[in-house]
Amino acid sequence: MGLEQKIAQAAADMVGARKESGKRMQRGMMQHLRDGTTSRAEGPMRNVPGAYTDPERFEAEKRELFRKLPLFVGLTPDIPNPGDKLLFDAAGPSIVVVRNKAGKLNAFLNMCTHRAATLVHECDARTRMTCKFHGWTFDLDGQLIGQPGSEGFAGIDRAELGLIRVPVAEWHGMIFVRATPGDEEIDVAAYLGEFAPELAQLDFANAEHVRSSRVDVNANWKYALDTYGESYHFGALHPDTIAKFSPSDVMFYDGYAPHHRIGFPRHEMKDYAADPEETWPEIPHGGVHLLFPNTIIQVEKMSPELEFVYGFYRMFPGESVDKAYTLMSNYRPVEAKGDPDMQQWIDVHELVKQVVSTEDYSVSEGGQKNLTYAPDGFRIVYGSNEIALQRFHRKVAELIGETQD
Ligand code: FES
Ligand SMILES: [Fe+2]
Repeated sequence: MGLEQKIAQAAADMVGARKESGKRMQRGMMQHLRDGTTSRAEGPMRNVPGAYTDPERFEAEKRELFRKLPLFVGLTPDIPNPGDKLLFDAAGPSIVVVRNKAGKLNAFLNMCTHRAATLVHECDARTRMTCKFHGWTFDLDGQLIGQPGSEGFAGIDRAELGLIRVPVAEWHGMIFVRATPGDEEIDVAAYLGEFAPELAQLDFANAEHVRSSRVDVNANWKYALDTYGESYHFGALHPDTIAKFSPSDVMFYDGYAPHHRIGFPRHEMKDYAADPEETWPEIPHGGVHLLFPNTIIQVEKMSPELEFVYGFYRMFPGESVDKAYTLMSNYRPVEAKGDPDMQQWIDVHELVKQVVSTEDYSVSEGGQKNLTYAPDGFRIVYGSNEIALQRFHRKVAELIGETQD
């Protein structure tokens, strides 16, 4: 079956495809639980401290990853109606994504074409965008439709003064931009490859927003991202939180290079490990995904009573190589839509935020500082059990034309 067919099928039969995918994940996790093993790379890998501390590498990453690759910026339900807007400036240039009257998305530099002032400051639902400097007004397709004192610009064709386009794509409820102006389209399916059906089946188009937060960290964006890629640290770093749900150093790694998803088994799976597969309870979730380069998508049931939850955790470079921030957004699935009890979902968001900021990122900061002063010849080591980190760092190095050692 071709990729397009697989995507179409996964989207057409979302519940079935999700169950099938969950079962495959469950099988992989169970195998490791039973055997006391985990997914592994061939051996350990070393990396230079400069991968986290070198300002030149940092600039290269911003250029090659954050401004050239398609970046996930939000979900269809964030801007469902004509006039709805989404602002995104985490990759460098300020970008505004708008839904036009025909329901199609446009993205532009958020920059007035008169003297470059910021055009949109607030995400209202108005069908025109008016610059607060001299009042130039643009429609949702970026055309200049109002120009006070237009005689001062006689001789310049108005059509030339439209907003500057940025590539945008809407794909199975997900919105992507490429943060560099241009007309080249984003081929999301090609970018995702075999990972595409895994995301298409998740029904993001019908998700409902719960809450969003920003968490700052004094560490390189990759140091923050690394914490989502292994369970080796669960017992030591999260004894009272995550380790209560999932054992340390057991994970099922499902690679779709450069993307992946990981299944971290829960302790209760041991209760039915000896039973035949047909009797296992259904786990309608897909684990922790990495949408390369910077987005973690967590799709999990956080407790037996809750429906599964979607978590989108995006790491972005901060102002310098040793600073980053995470934009965390949670959504609930269509199954929970209309449920008046939003509090339990808010609690999930707050719990994840708490664990990430007080536990995971608490080590990132010290690690970052130590790497800055590490002696010549010091190398970080990623164990064979940290396979996701190994693949990720190799890919980043390849894209910026560096080696790990
Ligand atoms: S800069 Fe926008 S109208 Fe002048
Ligand atoms: Fe962690």
